[in-house]
Amino acid sequence: MRVLIACEYSGAVRDAFIKQGHDAMSCDLLPTDVPGPHYQGSVFDIIDEGWDLMVAHPPCTYLSRAGARWMYKGGVLNDERYQKGLMAKEFFDKMMNAKCPMIAVENPTPMKLFNLPTHSQVVQPYQFGHPFSKRTLLWLKNLPALKPTNILLEYRPYLPSNTGGKKKGQKYSIGVSKNWKESAKTFQGIADAMANQWGNLA
Ligand SMILES: C[S@@+](CC[C@H](N)C(=O)[O-])C[C@H]1O[C@@H](n2cnc3c(N)ncnc32)[C@H](O)[C@@H]1O
Repeated sequence: MRVLIACEYSGAVRDAFIKQGHDAMSCDLLPTDVPGPHYQGSVFDIIDEGWDLMVAHPPCTYLSRAGARWMYKGGVLNDERYQKGLMAKEFFDKMMNAKCPMIAVENPTPMKLFNLPTHSQVVQPYQFGHPFSKRTLLWLKNLPALKPTNILLEYRPYLPSNTGGKKKGQKYSIGVSKNWKESAKTFQGIADAMANQWGNLA
């Protein structure tokens, strides 16, 4: 199959599909972190090139519920962030509506404000062999839900949450990931499950 991994610099999903014998390519504005077939540039340059399957990780900074406290600073909607959120939603919609028979779009839980379509499933790294939680939503077109491959019962939050609540004595987590690249990278167990479970559907 010809597989496009849109908005991926890590090569994680790309290389999982290549291991299964597929003709897979990643694409990102950034260079690939791991050498392999990669288009450095906008996904919209190549999205119509007749792919059989696309897995897309569109930018989520302005859509994610985790950013809600910056969207409503002091209870007032931040118009600049809102406009960026609308652009991110447009990007998301273009991924979902690409001319490609099988599509998976991945993002964290979005803010209700942007009215994204209902997701198809929620996956967690701890369902795929990593001892972490990081709630990840998948929107699927002509693809079955991913089946967990290795469920771990002990795990901790991968991303920081409510760190501002520390001083107020609220529940918070410093997370495990050290920088945005680590935070955004697809977990290998999830990448492998995508390639193993979706790679034989053509
Ligand atoms: C949330 S990160 C996804 C990272 C991915 N999970 C991985 O393992 O590499 C979103 C990515 O979208 C990329 N991006 C933003 N606009 C893009 C565009 N027009 N075309 C391709 N990639 C784009 C960003 O550079 C960023 O690396």
